[in-house]
Amino acid sequence: MVVFRVVLALLAVLTCVTSAPRSAAPPQDISVLTPLGTAQGTLDADGANRFAVRYAGATRWQSSAVVTEWTLPNGASDPAALPLQCPQTSVDASTFAEDCLSMILYVPVDIAPGSNASTLVWIHGGSFDSGSATFPGLDGSNLAIATESIVAVIQYRLGALGLLPPDGSTNLAVQDAINALIFLGQVVPSFGGDSSKITLAGQSAGAGMIRSLLAAPSASSLFQSAILQSDPMDFGFTSLTTQALLQSTFNDLISCSPSDTACQMSLTLDDILSAQATLEDEALGLDPSVAIGEPLHPVLDHTLITTPLDSTAPFPKVSKPLLLTNVRNESAPTIYGVEFPGPGPFPAEDFELSSDALLGTARTEILMASPFYPVDPNGDSRVPLQVLGTDYIWRCPTWTFARNWVANGGTAHVGMFTVGATYPLNDGIDDCVAPGAVCHQDDIFIVFGTTPNPTPAQSALTTEMQARYKAFLASADPNEPGLDGWVPATTTDVHAKEFGVLTTVDGEVPVLACDPSFWGQAVQYDYQFFDL
Ligand SMILES: *[C@@H]1O[C@H](CO)[C@@H](O)[C@H](O)[C@H]1NC(C)=O
Ligand SMILES: *[C@@H]1O[C@H](CO)[C@@H](O)[C@H](O)[C@H]1NC(C)=O
Repeated sequence: MVVFRVVLALLAVLTCVTSAPRSAAPPQDISVLTPLGTAQGTLDADGANRFAVRYAGATRWQSSAVVTEWTLPNGASDPAALPLQCPQTSVDASTFAEDCLSMILYVPVDIAPGSNASTLVWIHGGSFDSGSATFPGLDGSNLAIATESIVAVIQYRLGALGLLPPDGSTNLAVQDAINALIFLGQVVPSFGGDSSKITLAGQSAGAGMIRSLLAAPSASSLFQSAILQSDPMDFGFTSLTTQALLQSTFNDLISCSPSDTACQMSLTLDDILSAQATLEDEALGLDPSVAIGEPLHPVLDHTLITTPLDSTAPFPKVSKPLLLTNVRNESAPTIYGVEFPGPGPFPAEDFELSSDALLGTARTEILMASPFYPVDPNGDSRVPLQVLGTDYIWRCPTWTFARNWVANGGTAHVGMFTVGATYPLNDGIDDCVAPGAVCHQDDIFIVFGTTPNPTPAQSALTTEMQARYKAFLASADPNEPGLDGWVPATTTDVHAKEFGVLTTVDGEVPVLACDPSFWGQAVQYDYQFFDL
């Protein structure tokens, strides 16, 4: 039972909250002439002009195609209407539609045509099977105004609809994101943007999507730089072998053969989401390389995504500037969030049992012999488990990635949030609302400047991060006069800067288990362990 407690905790989706669209803006319509026709927008309640648009269309399980005409999402006639989400479980069916390749543009009112403004494209998280442009805190007005840029919050197909086309093709969701960038390249000049100044930013699976785009040569010319927040890099990409297994299992669940498009088209969204939910429940039992908590992923198909961007294959030459951040307690929501069979501390033996279940006995022995995850025989083993989860899934693989990136020609600034703003659902977890805890997703409100009733520390951090993003968008460097220096990563020292409360004298996160001799060498990441 104890083993399953943590495994099930980790199986809980990394992002799962109900949609909460912003209240409608005052009716004040705005039009902008684009090469695709007239864009209709509205003044957003938070101060920027807001344009919702359908950027691409797709037949079920086919590649999407960029629109040739500007249209409001979902046949709306009211420019203030927000797009429906992509189909997903855990939200009401009335909030989603299969025709969901929409985005929302936020344009500060003082950006005029010819301004050559930068564009920040936000890619939402949600384990590749949930999330949307209308999830809490993603109103881009404040971020757009503070960074003097256009903010575009995009949607892409989720779950089986985006990643498991029955005919065995791959990465439809990644192609959706590429089409969003192609669309933006065509239209941002009409809004005062410079199409050569596009920066990607995303959190969790959104950052994983950005890593997929960094690994896709065909996407390279579409953006100049990227910001990856809390990417669970340990998972790597899905291998073609695993993808084929997931695919055939899914095809059995929907009872349609790969070539029977009539059968596939006759399925209801409910049929598809139920089959997807069954597959996600069973996936880890089918193949242990399937990522816990994020079973469906972009695939290393060697066509669109041509490199794992990790230490299992020669790392390509790279050049783009990156910002790579984590939060201090990435895994606290999964470790502390499940109260089952009841709340309260986990006994000491749970550490080993849980680690065995997740990482196998060989890796567990090395972990237990190390000084990094001390288990107090009379204490709560959730404490070292939380540090282990954060190191293993997020922090250390991100640092390894940073070292590889700079060793091969790119630049990277690495950071860690030590102040956050509690995201919905984390607010039900006592340990996430406790002072000093910064749980997965608690960086979202901070970056967007959408924290409800912010404390002075939260407001100060929003101001700092937005100033750094503004500088990074404009000059590829997140430093500017008046801010503490953020030292770029080198191959030997990632210089991970603490953002918020400084817990060390120099404000740099202690390396501990993220030393290159430990994670990635003495103990393998999953992508190494399963040779993905
Ligand atoms: C925008 O870029 C164009 C082309 O490089 C340049 O001629 C123009 O002066 C720029 N405008 C501003 C406001 O910087
Ligand atoms: C958050 O992380 C810090 C630093 O590792 C740790 O001391 C603290 O116990 C963690 N809090 C939770 C709730 O996991």
